[in-house]
Amino acid sequence: MCGIVGIVSDHGVASRLVEGLRRLEYRGYDSAGIATLIDGEIHRKRAVGKLSALETKLEAEPLAGTTGIGHTRWATHGKPTEKNAHPHGGAKVAVVHNGIIENFSPLRNDLKDKGVTFESETDSEVIARLLEDELAQGSDPMRAFREVLAKLEGAFALGVLFAGEPDAIFCARKGSPLALGKGEGEMFIGSDALALAPFTNRITYLEEGDWAVLSRETVAIFDGAGTPVEREETISDASAALVGKGRHRHFMAKEIEEQPEVVAHTLTTYLNPSEGTVNLPETGIDFSNISRLTISACGTAYLAGLISKYWFETLARLPVEIDIASELRYRDVPYQKGEAALFVSQSGETADTLAAMRHAAEAGVTVGAVVNVTQSTMAREADAVFPIKAGPEIGVASTKAFTCQLATLACLAIAAGRARGYVTPEREAELCESLLKLPRLMNDVLAHAEEFDRLGTLLQPARDVLYLGRGVSFPMALEGALKLKEISYIHAEGYAAGELKHGPIALVDEHVPVIVIAPRDAHFEKTVSNMHEVMARGGKCLLLATEKGLEAAKTDEPLLGSFAMPDVDPLFSPLIYALPIQLLAYHTAVHKGTDVDQPRNLAKSVTVE
Ligand code: F6R
Repeated sequence: MCGIVGIVSDHGVASRLVEGLRRLEYRGYDSAGIATLIDGEIHRKRAVGKLSALETKLEAEPLAGTTGIGHTRWATHGKPTEKNAHPHGGAKVAVVHNGIIENFSPLRNDLKDKGVTFESETDSEVIARLLEDELAQGSDPMRAFREVLAKLEGAFALGVLFAGEPDAIFCARKGSPLALGKGEGEMFIGSDALALAPFTNRITYLEEGDWAVLSRETVAIFDGAGTPVEREETISDASAALVGKGRHRHFMAKEIEEQPEVVAHTLTTYLNPSEGTVNLPETGIDFSNISRLTISACGTAYLAGLISKYWFETLARLPVEIDIASELRYRDVPYQKGEAALFVSQSGETADTLAAMRHAAEAGVTVGAVVNVTQSTMAREADAVFPIKAGPEIGVASTKAFTCQLATLACLAIAAGRARGYVTPEREAELCESLLKLPRLMNDVLAHAEEFDRLGTLLQPARDVLYLGRGVSFPMALEGALKLKEISYIHAEGYAAGELKHGPIALVDEHVPVIVIAPRDAHFEKTVSNMHEVMARGGKCLLLATEKGLEAAKTDEPLLGSFAMPDVDPLFSPLIYALPIQLLAYHTAVHKGTDVDQPRNLAKSVTVE
């Protein structure tokens, strides 16, 4: 993971490096650092913690220099300490690295045998020490860089400074994305175009195996074989403005509240409200002819995919194979040529999802990317792109991206049903109408959002929480548990309500709150009887159901809590039930005083395996 930036210029770069890093904090935030060249000498400043810690350090001890590189870290090898923070190196080189060097251990041992000492526990430091070793053997920087690249296995985006080369940044990309930016008399590198948005919109993406040398006026790009290559320059539409929290205390609260608006935007991208039809982009997937659809993703995006499995099966009678991307990429899936696969990702950069997508594409499968970031690697590589249009999501816990993923996938499932002859024009119009009602129903839920402040106090003291649901509410139970654990650090598990008796009911006692997700659907009665089984064993339940559902579920035993939900087409209930689940996690975390927007150990975009 991690984010990297670099600037080669004729005026000071330190504050601009920090500005670029600020836009990359979503990639990790456990330490940060920059290095600049001053009179040909390398100077480094590093600090543990969020970028603000580095900023404070730089205020006290400013760093001059017109060429520099910077890094924000998400620890993979070695704890978040100053020694483990990037840039690595010393007097001769400075290196920032995003990714994992898989063969760092043998490389490190070889160098140790030669008497080289290491300062950090990171895999990245080996790159700096290898470069120093090459220089010591008489290589010039260009040759040293090439020789070292040839030795590295794994995934990396690199930025390198060499002492005595004040007008050069060396960089390379293999497995991790890297963008080059062209300015007026200055050049930039960054993990994405967003990081460079305040400086330039002229962006060139390095391709797999490419490396490059940037000076103030020139960019020389080489492919993996060392042949000079041209790569297309694109004009990025990434906004230079940093997204603010508005009147909200946290980005997550703002993003929860934005959902009616962004989901409406997503729906009108794929639906024609006046005609009651779904209109997919021309370069879409031909669902009429496929025997199977594979869906894959990670985390919350995977759960959006899991919900859509129910939709593709019900509406399009389409067999769906779904797996988490970190498993799918290594499975020996017997793909058939002509099949289709969808990969769901907010960032479009998640390493496992990208690898699973490439794996399917290599097998001759038509791959579609359901992404938020339309300049992402997945969007650029997929055969078909379905933007979810959620706008920038800053809170690490996914909220509006989840519901916009669902909205997009629902439209795709309707289109697939129509293409396969299972959804008639009348049914299509009904389904579109149900979807188009959702933003208003979301507003109805949000109008009572303050109730979750109190409900959050009920979960705050818990050590463990269970979530139960059936049908499309089963993935919602998983999502509820994921959301709660990631931001409040309370252990939570989601279960299919029917699975409870097969083990998890042993966990139930009066100290384990059980959140029951029971929309008015064909499973309602069964879910409620599972809830009663919990209550009969002393369990304390919090029920999310319609007004009528709450009435029907009443027993002598009082509930721990409840929230009355609007009535909704049961098929699409996850889009509405997402809100109480998010609000419950949010308020519990606020009561616990955790870092809601940047929870410990997490990063917004997981670009390593
Ligand atoms: C949870 C969350 C993560 C992401 C996952 C995939 O709230 O945000 O589980 O959903 O890391 O990320 P993307 O969608 O960028 O591929």
